[in-house]
Amino acid sequence: MKPGYHDIYTRYRDNITRGVLKPGDKVPAIRVLAEELKVARKTVETAYAILTGEGYLVSQGARGTRVNPDLSLPAVKPPADEQVTGTLPASLISQRERAGYLRPGIPALDGFPYKKWLLLAGQATRSMRQEEMLNPPVLGWYPLRQAIARYLNISRGLSCSAEQVLITSGYSGSLRLILDTLASRSDKVVFEDPGYFMGQQLLKRIVPRLHTVPVDRAGFDTDYLLRNHHDARFAIVTPSHQSPLAVTLSLPRKQQLLDWATQNEAWIVEDDYDGEFHYTRKVLPSLKSLDRHDRVIFMGTFSKTIMPSLRLGYVVMPASTVEAFTDCADITTSGQPVLTQKILTRFLDEGHFFRHLKKMRALYQRRRDWMIAALREVYGDLFFTEQNDGGMHIVAFLTKGSRDREVAQCWQQQELQVNALSEWYRGSGKRYGLVMGYNNVRTYQEALDLLERPKRQTLALLS
Ligand SMILES: Cc1ncc(COP(=O)(O)O)c(C=O)c1O
Repeated sequence: MKPGYHDIYTRYRDNITRGVLKPGDKVPAIRVLAEELKVARKTVETAYAILTGEGYLVSQGARGTRVNPDLSLPAVKPPADEQVTGTLPASLISQRERAGYLRPGIPALDGFPYKKWLLLAGQATRSMRQEEMLNPPVLGWYPLRQAIARYLNISRGLSCSAEQVLITSGYSGSLRLILDTLASRSDKVVFEDPGYFMGQQLLKRIVPRLHTVPVDRAGFDTDYLLRNHHDARFAIVTPSHQSPLAVTLSLPRKQQLLDWATQNEAWIVEDDYDGEFHYTRKVLPSLKSLDRHDRVIFMGTFSKTIMPSLRLGYVVMPASTVEAFTDCADITTSGQPVLTQKILTRFLDEGHFFRHLKKMRALYQRRRDWMIAALREVYGDLFFTEQNDGGMHIVAFLTKGSRDREVAQCWQQQELQVNALSEWYRGSGKRYGLVMGYNNVRTYQEALDLLERPKRQTLALLS
């Protein structure tokens, strides 16, 4: 049923009093709103006349009609949670979105070349052609696929073509598409234990036969895989810096894993989420670079190298699967925004990406050293760390006990968004500690100050 003048009046009044429409906000012209609601102009005119008469709206001639800028309404009291965050109630903000420090995996926000990015964004916007405003290509904007193939072939030792690169929205987009394309519901999938928390949650929802394989100091335990899950069809692994333990998969195990996949026609999904950040050796070969039989599906993300809100990642499809991926993507995805892909392409093609990575490697190494030193300074030997190649987070293991959940909770209360390591485990053999980011700690002093915040409670829990 078409709204009458009274319906329009109450919609506006309610939205203004609830603060959805704010003083000074423009409202649509009478003609436009009448067309939108498919009502006579007179109907809208009457509603606006009443709202103006009651002081909710003011007409500003050629500048249109607005919510009265002088309107002062009794402040609507937000629920308690909302006052804390200023936006959404905390209960509606997922753990990943909560503000705070030391969150694992967030790149240094003060190190990003924003000015350059904005300049490229302007250029990319001006270069948008009409045909690029139609539906985006489901496999990704071709020049970006080319730029990523070039980058991976140079930096990660791959030898892929642009046709094998598929652009996604990041981890879950990539993983879903891989499984949608290649897995059947009866396929056994193995994941690391401990393993990426969000990955576990996602896989538990979508994979009926999910199993785990333990991780030790040499990475994913391939002997265990061969003994217990020889028949798996997919192994999802983080070989460069295991998530969360940050260990690197040893070369013999890499070979063993590749041999297993080749002999069993299984797929290895290599999640190279932070392989760019290595500090101890010059280059860390990706598993894919050793894959002679095209059994590895490589996936990466720009969340760690650029920013998580970009929401762009990629999959390198084995040559034999390109057609299957294309068919599946055509039905199950709608592509990524072309404009963002264009900006990123320029960033890669003009060499800014390489420069940025080089700068970030040096910066992260420094910040990691500060964090480890500050941990020692503030907590002595209550925690210890293990020397790893790199990555975007460290694990502060508890020297004694298993109370990492309580410790993590008390750090979170001080806005330190660390995770309890034991929560990332599924089976036995749990280790205990805190998974923490360090990339945004700008000075050694800042590291000390942050770690001092929960000191009293932490000592009480651990001593
Ligand atoms: C193990 C692992 N894989 C992948 C990702 C990347 O996720 P996304 O591309 O969705 O940001 C992350 C981010 O934290 C991660 O920790």
